[in-house]
Amino acid sequence: MIKGKDILTLLELSPQEIELILNLADKLKMEAVKGIYKPLLANRTLCMIFQKPSTRTRVSFEVGMFELGGYTITLTPSEMQLSRGETIEDTARTLSRYVNILAARVFNHNDVVRLAEAATIPVINALSDKWHPCQILADLQTIREVKGRLKGLKLAWVGDGNNVCNTLLIGCAKMGINMVVAHPPGYDPLKEALNEAYKCAEESGAKIDTTHDPKVAVKDADIVVTDTFISMGKEEEREERMKVFLPNYQVNTRLMSLAKPDAVFMHCLPAKRGEEVTDEVIDGPKSIVWEEAENRKHTEKALLCLLLLDEKALF
Ligand code: CP
Ligand code: NVA
Repeated sequence: MIKGKDILTLLELSPQEIELILNLADKLKMEAVKGIYKPLLANRTLCMIFQKPSTRTRVSFEVGMFELGGYTITLTPSEMQLSRGETIEDTARTLSRYVNILAARVFNHNDVVRLAEAATIPVINALSDKWHPCQILADLQTIREVKGRLKGLKLAWVGDGNNVCNTLLIGCAKMGINMVVAHPPGYDPLKEALNEAYKCAEESGAKIDTTHDPKVAVKDADIVVTDTFISMGKEEEREERMKVFLPNYQVNTRLMSLAKPDAVFMHCLPAKRGEEVTDEVIDGPKSIVWEEAENRKHTEKALLCLLLLDEKALF
């Protein structure tokens, strides 16, 4: 049962629960196309705290909640008593008395863990230095939509073994997608993410692998994914990272040509054009980045509904 859970890493969800979220996201998306917006979350409030900038996460959650008949409050720590030393725990306890669900984007993953531990309502990680579960739910919906299935596909990650990569490892391993991560030495995904992915893969039959060679990863891939070389909070490493990542880890037409002829390109966005991806690829016919961005809203709506309501009320 998803209702009442905290979603901090994606490890909280079974493959069946992920499938349920994707099914509801598809249903809500289809209804929205027809102009049907049921007020499933009328009188419910989401409070979001953003320690870092956001375009997609903030807007998709706010619009999603509005479309469900609910309300959202979005805050930055500087306008809260957090900036004057109120603890995360006391903040969580207070907000739990006012709103129905919390989401937080934090630098240090432990901050969202503390929020979840003290809150008496569900808490969603809206991105931390380690994990980005909302992104991966949207990615899985997008892949299923475009490829018609998840199991048995090959996904190549090229670039930094970052928060998005860590969570994609879990998502792929749970859903039976074979994932190869190509990263420079020293820029590996979290050990914890790999170990958990290997465990999940034993059940799903997915193959999880890492390499330093992007060409090996991309060979015969159905999906090629990358992300910025410089995640939020790593700005001071820019010069060093550029030397390490470029030119080998850039997704360009030459690298894409090694994937399957019908391969697609994905990126959580924002993209640094000319760094991890060329204009030609992100604007090219294989790119599905805008569908991927759109699906953030549909999967988040599904997640909010399933965290707050009984499953029976939704299908
Ligand atoms: N992909 C993503 O989370 O984008 P934002 O940083 O714009 O929210
Ligand atoms: N890895 C990126 C993702 C942004 C959505 C970051 O953490 O900045």
